[in-house]
Amino acid sequence: MNEEKYIEIRGVEQRFKTAKGSFLALQKIDLDVAKGEFVTLIGHSGCGKSTLLNLIAGLTAPTQGTLLCANREIRGPGPDRAVVFQNHSLLPWLTCFENVYLAVERVFGASEGKAQLRSRTDAALALVGLTAAAQKRPGEISGGMKQRVGIARALSMEPKVLLMDEPFGALDALTRAKLQDELLAIVANTRSTVVMVTHDVDEAVLLSDKIVMLTNGPGATIGEVLQVALPRPRNRVELAEDPAYVHARKAVIDFLYTRQAHVEKVAA
Ligand SMILES: Nc1ncnc2c1ncn2[C@@H]1O[C@H](COP(=O)(O)OP(=O)(O)OP(=O)(O)O)[C@@H](O)[C@H]1O
Ligand SMILES: [Mg+2]
Repeated sequence: MNEEKYIEIRGVEQRFKTAKGSFLALQKIDLDVAKGEFVTLIGHSGCGKSTLLNLIAGLTAPTQGTLLCANREIRGPGPDRAVVFQNHSLLPWLTCFENVYLAVERVFGASEGKAQLRSRTDAALALVGLTAAAQKRPGEISGGMKQRVGIARALSMEPKVLLMDEPFGALDALTRAKLQDELLAIVANTRSTVVMVTHDVDEAVLLSDKIVMLTNGPGATIGEVLQVALPRPRNRVELAEDPAYVHARKAVIDFLYTRQAHVEKVAA
């Protein structure tokens, strides 16, 4: 297998049928994600970030082009690609443990016994620091903790690729920073391949090996790809003054707010 191209996206276009006819959301999308790479998708609201993530997740099919994961065409969702949604999507009547256990059972239930499934669930909850909250229901825990359950659920499936759609978007700045640091540590340990949608420039630079910048729609495409060559492990305090960090941050800000600035004018 070609290690350099774990996810391959070739000539992808996505149109949606609407009441007014066909809407071209994405076009001419070509992107490679290598094994173990952390890629963020960034762009203005409505440009098509979730649309692209959903295509990789296999939740939608492209109207043109192909998407491959590990050399196989993506034809639908699969346990090799776990998704963390912005809205947690936890089942409110189940405990944190049960929410994660359900995913573990779906993926490993055919080949493993209950004790093994329970220990996988415990391990995933421990990874995100939720052992003490395992028996609580989503209504009894904070937004940051719910997001952690979503991440634990995704990681428990041992996916080849972790897909995250603005996983920290609804959180306050401090909780967000804490979860970003946790995610960095988890990804370093599990060597996961990650594709994550974000609006946040600092988050993108802190986490990514590669930042994919989308132009504004309709007909959005990849405007620029920035390689972030900062060494790991990364420390946010030290990075803040690192010239390479400042340079990467400036490049993304320049793309979003200078070259793709017209979105505000359209919306105004
Ligand atoms: N099922 C659909 N039917 C019609 N149009 C759609 C559909 N899904 C998305 N779109 C349109 O495609 C474009 C891209 O939407 P998408 O949700 O991917 O944007 P986004 O970049 O994730 O935005 P945000 O940052 O606000 O989440 C938008 O104009 C949206 O209205
Ligand atoms: Mg979105």
